[in-house]
Amino acid sequence: MSFRNDFIWGTATASFQIEGAWDEDGKSPSIWDEYCALPGKILDRSDGKTACDHYHRYEEDVALMAQHGIRNYRFSVSWPRILPEGTGKVNEAGAAFYDRLINCLLEHGIRPWMTVFHWDLPACLEKKGGWLNDQMPDWFAEYTGVLAERFGDRVKDFITINEPQCVLGMGYMAGIFAPGLKLEVKDQITAAHNLLKSHGRACRVLREKVKDVRIGYAPCAAPAVPLDEANPADVEAARKAYFAAGGDSPLFSVSWFSDPAVLGTYPEDGLACFGQYLPEGWKEDLKEICQPLDFYMQNIYEGKQIRATDGAGNYETVPYPAGHPRTACGWPVTPRALYWGPRFLWERYRLPFIISENGMSCHDWVTPDGKVHDPNRIDYVRQYLKELRRAAGDGADIRGYFYWSLLDNFEWARGYTERFGLVYVDYATQKRTPKDSLAWYADVIRNNGENL
Ligand code: FCB
Repeated sequence: MSFRNDFIWGTATASFQIEGAWDEDGKSPSIWDEYCALPGKILDRSDGKTACDHYHRYEEDVALMAQHGIRNYRFSVSWPRILPEGTGKVNEAGAAFYDRLINCLLEHGIRPWMTVFHWDLPACLEKKGGWLNDQMPDWFAEYTGVLAERFGDRVKDFITINEPQCVLGMGYMAGIFAPGLKLEVKDQITAAHNLLKSHGRACRVLREKVKDVRIGYAPCAAPAVPLDEANPADVEAARKAYFAAGGDSPLFSVSWFSDPAVLGTYPEDGLACFGQYLPEGWKEDLKEICQPLDFYMQNIYEGKQIRATDGAGNYETVPYPAGHPRTACGWPVTPRALYWGPRFLWERYRLPFIISENGMSCHDWVTPDGKVHDPNRIDYVRQYLKELRRAAGDGADIRGYFYWSLLDNFEWARGYTERFGLVYVDYATQKRTPKDSLAWYADVIRNNGENL
């Protein structure tokens, strides 16, 4: 069993988590700049003002990737850096940063994968209601159009929205990510519908403006993994659990955000619970929301175990036992999520599939030999990749894998307390130290995963 010869090996980052330069060259505040300034929101009271200072150190970061044979880089654009007023006048100095970055990537033989939106909404648009405002799809289309026109000559791979589930589930429902709202269910559904429309509009704009464009979409949600793979009832139960969209809110479900985009319908169980809250004209909107995609992507870190409880399709989640391996931030280590997630997603959506994020945070530090030894991370990635390869061997069309993240960075509400990088960042000096896992990943890429 092997990965395809043209398998896409990459690393991923996001603008707010690495760039810093929060008010430089005409950038306006994003909702994350404002959220960090509120007391008690960020675990270590930090912010993204400097982060990894990637805005000034991108050349070093790109060179590190090139030296380690990383040929694909997924990054996002800061909307308020490009359009400080959210719409309207383009900030030339901000756009110039991405020109420099893209050119540098291409000079190093690295294919740029541009995420249009990875959470840093211009604060001025949030003040107008953000995703609740019906104009959002227009704003989003305008912003995407600017990226297409400015960068589409060199960037051919675009990802519309990263993790709608977190944008709205964490930001508009649980209230633990920017902008920290706790909306009632009707408003949640409206915001989600506007987000889906924004995705669809962005796809159209990109197809229209970028020659030979390839478009992906990167939702998330912990895959459901059958407790006993050999038991067909558990497999069926896991499939059902994975795509369920009923319950208290569909904001964390896969299908509520993927079925409309890929299949042109809202999932039936979700409609039964929440259809009443959809805005007028939603059926018509589905035509706009469902646009051809070149890739279906998912960020997958962990899975939940599911067991059938009877022959009638009922199931339960089986908790991991005490002492089950966990990453530094407490997420369970569940390699089979990278088998069952991609497999179920392939079966339902039938689109070439890419893991747009996977990785783990470890308790990394620089040891007296000047190195960072992270055997846990190597073991984690090895085990997960083997499962991904198994899914490909069983017929799922798996095209690529992006490790999250290239660098240690600002981990949202957890600030700088979590280290997900292949490269260690000393935030006081901004010194980069490649971890053991970076050399190991370079080797995996060189061997196209044959040595796992
Ligand atoms: C994902 C986010 C990414 C990063 C990882 C650890 O949910 O997309 O920005 O924070 O988790």
